[in-house]
Amino acid sequence: MTHVALDLQADFVEKRLSGTATLTVDRQPGATELVLDTGNLEILRVTDRRGAALAYALAEEDSILGRALIVTLPAPTEPVVVTYRTAPTSAALQWLTPEQTAGKRLPFLYSQGQAILTRTWIPTQDSPGIRQTYEARIGVPRDLRAVMSAESLTPDGTLVGQDRAFEFRLTEAIPPYLIALAVGDIRSQSLGPRSGVYAEPAVLKAAAFEFADLEQMVEAAESLLGPYRWGRYDLLVLPPSFPFGGMENPRLTFATPTVIAGDRSLVSLAAHELAHSWSGNLVTHATWSDFWLNESVTTYVERRIMEAIYGVERAEILEVLAWRDLQEEMKRLGGPSSRDTVLHIDLEGRDPDDGATLIPYEKGAALLRLMELTVGRPSFDTYLRSYIDRHAFQPITTAAFLADVRANLVRGDPALEAKLRLDEWAYQPGLPPNAIEPRSAALDRVEAAARAFAAGTTASSLKAHAWGTQEWQYFLGALPDALSPAQLADLDDTFGLTGKGNSEVLFAWLRIAVRHHYAPAMPALERFLTSQGRRKFLRPLYGDLCARTWGKPEAKRIYAEARPLYHSAVTSTLDAMLAE
Ligand code: BES
Ligand code: ZN
Repeated sequence: MTHVALDLQADFVEKRLSGTATLTVDRQPGATELVLDTGNLEILRVTDRRGAALAYALAEEDSILGRALIVTLPAPTEPVVVTYRTAPTSAALQWLTPEQTAGKRLPFLYSQGQAILTRTWIPTQDSPGIRQTYEARIGVPRDLRAVMSAESLTPDGTLVGQDRAFEFRLTEAIPPYLIALAVGDIRSQSLGPRSGVYAEPAVLKAAAFEFADLEQMVEAAESLLGPYRWGRYDLLVLPPSFPFGGMENPRLTFATPTVIAGDRSLVSLAAHELAHSWSGNLVTHATWSDFWLNESVTTYVERRIMEAIYGVERAEILEVLAWRDLQEEMKRLGGPSSRDTVLHIDLEGRDPDDGATLIPYEKGAALLRLMELTVGRPSFDTYLRSYIDRHAFQPITTAAFLADVRANLVRGDPALEAKLRLDEWAYQPGLPPNAIEPRSAALDRVEAAARAFAAGTTASSLKAHAWGTQEWQYFLGALPDALSPAQLADLDDTFGLTGKGNSEVLFAWLRIAVRHHYAPAMPALERFLTSQGRRKFLRPLYGDLCARTWGKPEAKRIYAEARPLYHSAVTSTLDAMLAE
C-alpha cells in the first residue's frame, strides 16, 4: 500500500461512513492478489478505476483481526477502488449524541485507529510496518466541520447541497493507525506560528490557555531531535468520552479534556504526543511486539521536553511518579517473572492492545535513562538524534534497534556493552538490576508527610498547601490501605479532595475512597465515572469496585448508565470485567 484516497460521507442518523477507498499499491512481481484488513465493514463493490468489477472474497472472520478482503489485482498500474460502508458499531468510530458533547447542541464523530482499529473504517493493510500517504474528501452535515491528521485544503469546507465537504492531504507516508478523523462543532485558535488548538467552542478558551506552551515545546523537541517534519502541530481537545489521554495523530494530536486542569499542570501529555512526531510517526515500530520502541523513546523525550521548559525538578517529579506506577504495574501483571513485563512482548493469538501497559512506556524509558546516564548526556543526545535520522519514515524492529545501538553508541566497547545488558532489557521479564531509580527531593518530603499522616499526624499540620498536582498524586498514592474513617474525613475536610476539579488528583482520591468505602465521596465517584471515558481512569476504578462485595453491584449499576459514553477501546475491556 502506498497511497489511500478516501471519499466518504458521514451520516449521523445512520451512524455510518460510506463511500470509496481508492488504494494504490506497489505491486510486487508475480503478485496476483491484494490482501486487505477489514473489520465489520460492509463491502459493496470492488472495481478498477474505470468501474470495471474486480473479483474479491471475504475470508472467515477472526475474532481479533477481523476479515481479510482478498482482491484479484487488475492490470499492473491500476489502483483498486473499494466501495463500502462502516457499521454503526465500528470499533474505531464513536458517534456522539449532542448530549455527549461539551456544547450539547450538535453531534460529534471521531476515530481512534491505534492499535488495529483503522480496519473498522478503512479497508487497508493495517500493520504499523506499512506506510502510505493519504488524501480524503469528507462530506458532513453543513453545520459541522471535519478535521483530519493531515493538511486541510479547505478549512471552511465547500457547500454541496445540505452538506459541507472538506478536503485533506498528507504527503508524508504514515502507518495506517495514524489516519484519523473528527467531525463536530470544532473551532480553532492559533497559539504560535505553526501551532494551535482545536476544540468545541465551549472549551476553546480553556484549551488555548492550558496549551499556551505548545510552540515552545515544539522548539524544545526540535533542539533535541532535529527539525519538526510535519508542517503544523495542532492539538484537538475531544469530548469527554475520548478513551486515551492523547493520540499522536500526525499534525493534529487528539487529546482528552481531562488534562485541562486550569493550571497547566498536566501538559506533559502534550509533550508526550508531540515527541511521537519523531519516535513513532517518523520511526515506527515494525510490529506490535516492537511497540515499546515507540513509547519508550517518546516517554524519555517527553521528560526531556518538560525539563527544558519547566526545569529539572518538575522532570524528576514526573520520573519518580512514573517509577512508582511502573512498580505497581509489574505487580498487577504478575510480578517480575511475568512474560507481560518483557519489552519485546509475545502477542501470539492476542489483541495487540493487550500490550498497551505501562511496561513499554516506563520500563522502556528506564532503559533510555540508563543509556543516557551511562554514556553521558551529550553522547546520548547525539546518538538519539542520529537514530531518528537514520530510520525516519521507516519501520524498526527490536533487533534492528539493538543493532543500531551497538553500531552507533556501544561501538564495540566491551565495558559499555556489559554495563548496559541490552538483551536482558529487551527480551527478559522484570527490571534488570542495573536499572537506576530516579529521585526527587520534593517527593521525598511528600513521602515523609504521607508516612506522618498514616502514623496519626493531622491533615492541617502537613504543610501541604503549596503542593501541586504531582505532589498530591504522589501523596495519595503513598497512603496505606488502612486509614480510619476519621483520617479520611480529616483529609477531605482540610483539602476538599472530593470536590477537586483536577482529574488526576480526583482519580487518586477516588481510588482511596473506593478502597475504604468512604461514603461521602460516592456521589463524586459516580459523577466521575459518568462524565468522562478515559480508560486509564475507568479500568482501575471499576476494577477496585468489582473487587468488593458492596462495589460490584454499584459498578454494574453505574456502568449500565455510563456505557453509551464510552468508546469501544474501553467497553471491550470493561464488558468482560463487569459481566463476571
Ligand atoms: N499512542 C498512545 C495511545 C495508545 C497506545 C492508544 C496504544 C492505543 C494503543 C499515546 O501516545 C499515549 O501514550 N497516550 C497516553 C498518555 C501519555 C501521556 C502516557 C494515554 O493515553 O494515557
Ligand atoms: Zn505514547
